[in-house]
Amino acid sequence: MKPCTIIIFGATGDLSKKKLLPALYHLEAENRLTTDTRIICMGRQEMPQQEWKSLVDGYVSPSARGGVDKTVLDTFLAKVSYFKCDINDAASYQALNTLVTSEENGFSQNIVFYLSIAPALFGTVGDQLSAVGLNCEDKGWRHLVVEKPFGYDQKSAAELERILRRNFTEKQTYRIDHYLGKGTVQNIFVFRFANLLLEPLWNRNYIDHVQITHAEQQGVGGRAGYYDGSGAMRDMIQSHLLQVMTLVAMEPPADLNDESLRDEKVKVLKSIRPITEDTVDDHAFRGQYAAGNVAGVAQKGYLEEDDAPENSVTETYAALKVYVDNWRWRGVPFYLRTGKCMPESKAMIAIRFKKPPQQLFKNTKIGDSHANWIVMGLQPDNTLRIELQAKEPGLEIKAHTIGMETVEDEDTRHKLDAYEAMILSAVMGDRSLFLRSDEVDLAWQVVDPVIAKWSKDKDFIHKYAAGTWGPEQVSRIFDDSCHQWRNNL
Ligand code: BG6
Repeated sequence: MKPCTIIIFGATGDLSKKKLLPALYHLEAENRLTTDTRIICMGRQEMPQQEWKSLVDGYVSPSARGGVDKTVLDTFLAKVSYFKCDINDAASYQALNTLVTSEENGFSQNIVFYLSIAPALFGTVGDQLSAVGLNCEDKGWRHLVVEKPFGYDQKSAAELERILRRNFTEKQTYRIDHYLGKGTVQNIFVFRFANLLLEPLWNRNYIDHVQITHAEQQGVGGRAGYYDGSGAMRDMIQSHLLQVMTLVAMEPPADLNDESLRDEKVKVLKSIRPITEDTVDDHAFRGQYAAGNVAGVAQKGYLEEDDAPENSVTETYAALKVYVDNWRWRGVPFYLRTGKCMPESKAMIAIRFKKPPQQLFKNTKIGDSHANWIVMGLQPDNTLRIELQAKEPGLEIKAHTIGMETVEDEDTRHKLDAYEAMILSAVMGDRSLFLRSDEVDLAWQVVDPVIAKWSKDKDFIHKYAAGTWGPEQVSRIFDDSCHQWRNNL
């Protein structure tokens, strides 16, 4: 990694405590932070340096893989400092500028600004940084990393974009979708393009439909106040699941350059058949968890969660059917679904192939042929399973499903968190794991009509008991009566 200064806005917030600081510690453990790297943590309160360092110790040590290494921790903490900053106050930015640009302080002039703050504050921080010239790249590069949500619809995302553009160029901007930092999600790309075997089959001639599932056992917990303004369609489908879909559906890029990759993802998003408000019910379905039992633990319903507004119809489960109207995929439905309070926490892609054209075994004990599946588990494990039909041993001609399966066993020491890859890429100036503005815009364009219709239909939402796979009525979005969700790997 190149020497750089990482300035985290919102360093005392949840994301920083749970993800960013632990990720930086692990990068230190992997020897990826150069000696000159410095991490400046911005926070509102007054805080002595030593107190902050012991807080950071408390954030990173419990989650350190293989146990915390005292030497690594000391080297890491020596790079960390605290800086009191009032986000709206020009004097704070002048002081920050003096601190980081004075030669005697020795800060690298390659700077990552990590905005782990509410998007409503992006404009203020950008304007203030620019007022003191910290966005200028005359002495080193300046990268701006922004967290999701990037807007709450197409219009607000465009507005946010305009605000960022006041002070930073597209090339300086790194929009996070942490799914792209997951090794298992990156594996979709390798699996497709490092193997010749799949390419001839990877199209509308052989694939019947594709399912992308994200399920989690957790409910919204104490986040209902925030979550209620978002809902599952915005929170997961517009961002993470559409990104996974583009990796499944994209054409091979010309090379591994970040722009080549993003060009191909954009082409997929542009090819998605528009959903109109009239067709929302054919394409989308929403549900909300009621009280139930998740893995043996009683779970209250969404409306009983702290801060959940009375009679809210915000969805905690959402499913979306999209068609990619291009040469490769025309007519193949992609079913995307996500849900909270599901029986298991897992994410997977299930690809169902068409049945053989001739029902050769129809009048034997094999009967109607079964379709082949390829199932990729993205989490908790990186799994790949290919299902084939084979003859059962014995005299009879009977078939059964056999699975060829690999489970990538990452030892816990090397099991990377997505944020490690994201931070490293932001420092290296590799934007392939980050969203380009046109990707964000097109992804909103896909879901906007659904969100608009749902925000008008305030009277009813299908309920599902916590600990189940969601409302059964979701099957109304399926194209074929033989389609059904696959819940297991
Ligand atoms: C976040 C959503 O972006 O992704 C959360 O805001 C969700 O609601 C989370 O729980 C899921 O991420 P992961 O990595 O746990 O699958």
